[in-house]
Amino acid sequence: MKTKTSYVCQECGYDSPQWLGKCPECGLWNSLKEIHITESKIENSLGIKRVNLEPKKLDQIKVEKKQRLLTGFSELDGVLGGGIVKGSAILLAGDPGIGKSTLLLQIGLKMSAGKEKVLYVSGEESEEQIKLRAERIKTTKAKSDLLLVSGTNTDLIAEVIQKTNPSLVIIDSIQTMESENVSGLSGSVGQVRYGAFQFIKLAKTLGIPVIMVGHVTKEGMVAGPMILSHMVDTVLFLEGEKFTSTRILRSLKNRFGPVDEIGLFAMEDSGIKELNNAEQLFLSKTNNSAIPGSVLTITLEGTRAFLVEVQALVLTSKIPIPRRVASGVDYKRLELLLAVLQKHCNIPLASMDVFVNIAGGIKLSDPGTDLSICLAIISSFQNIKLSDKVGIGEVGLLGELRKPNSMEKRIKEAQKLGFRGIFSPNKFKTLKEVMLNLTK
Ligand code: TYD
Ligand code: MG
Repeated sequence: MKTKTSYVCQECGYDSPQWLGKCPECGLWNSLKEIHITESKIENSLGIKRVNLEPKKLDQIKVEKKQRLLTGFSELDGVLGGGIVKGSAILLAGDPGIGKSTLLLQIGLKMSAGKEKVLYVSGEESEEQIKLRAERIKTTKAKSDLLLVSGTNTDLIAEVIQKTNPSLVIIDSIQTMESENVSGLSGSVGQVRYGAFQFIKLAKTLGIPVIMVGHVTKEGMVAGPMILSHMVDTVLFLEGEKFTSTRILRSLKNRFGPVDEIGLFAMEDSGIKELNNAEQLFLSKTNNSAIPGSVLTITLEGTRAFLVEVQALVLTSKIPIPRRVASGVDYKRLELLLAVLQKHCNIPLASMDVFVNIAGGIKLSDPGTDLSICLAIISSFQNIKLSDKVGIGEVGLLGELRKPNSMEKRIKEAQKLGFRGIFSPNKFKTLKEVMLNLTK
């Protein structure tokens, strides 16, 4: 049995036959660790025979329409581009505790109720724990055919997959998987890469799609780390604030469908629910039409438009360096907009504390919402009510307004929801012009 030694960067997964002090890929010092891979086992463990490669003419290649499995969640199917493609490898990433296992368990329960054979492999929880969670989720059917395995040995799990031949495999999580063929603890780059490689190869050769859970490190990277996203066909990200129930599922990479599409879910006491008609989800629940400091906007996520409420609070500061608190908006962007308001609209914000918040726990990185942030600040500063108004537009450094992408779509959405007071670059050229016409 031959053993191969390689040196793998623990940060980026760079692979070198010899030890190096500095990783040539990511530039980190002393990050290469020695790992041993027993070669003969790799070949045998999957039982895959060698096939001869032969080139084909492009014309001879027939394209079969990809068969897709429906997950039972239309929000998820939409993000995937119409369901799970057979033989594809999907990475579901997200912070610990955000609801990845819950979502996947529910998919497993739904699909196995629809007579698909689903194998749920958990390296994190025992079968009893999963059973308790399934009871908490309370599916309508008391009985379930969902197959559970609790284990962390990659090679044994690969055997189980071959034996049971399910229509979907769920691996929760890839960071807990380990193989004797590779040195290093579970979660190390060598182990994660080997495990993922094996499951992806199984998926491709047997046509069984696999969903792998990947935890995210503090820096927001998929631990293990970037290598995983290169290996899989689809990368999904489940995000949300721990203390709010809204969960957003995003596709960051998708070989078989749209990217940047989102699905909306809510984490509830009895499991995760999908939110199909969520255009008005991101509004504060109070009826604060009488309070200044709130403005609406329309933001785009993928192909969907959402109505979002921006709230601002502006008050005279008691400290030499006034406070700026931004939640749901990038801090640097808020500073920039404050500078524009100060310079071009003559609002003395340099001596004011400014707080900006986006209701409902969504993060706005869309520049088309600039105008609404400015309007919320003006509304609070001037004590005028704007909460039934919608602001759509980008704000430039010279105080000019620009059209964001899909301007017409945003305006249509606002009109559809019944709003008439829409401030946009269609009517105004500068932020100052909007400010002077607010009460008209
Ligand atoms: P989990 O799916 O275990 O997160 P992950 O796999 O991403 O680490 O979710 C754990 C959290 O979700 C935990 O704080 C409890 C909460 N939860 C609910 O709110 N409702 C539920 O029905 C379930 C099963 C969990
Ligand atoms: Mg989990």
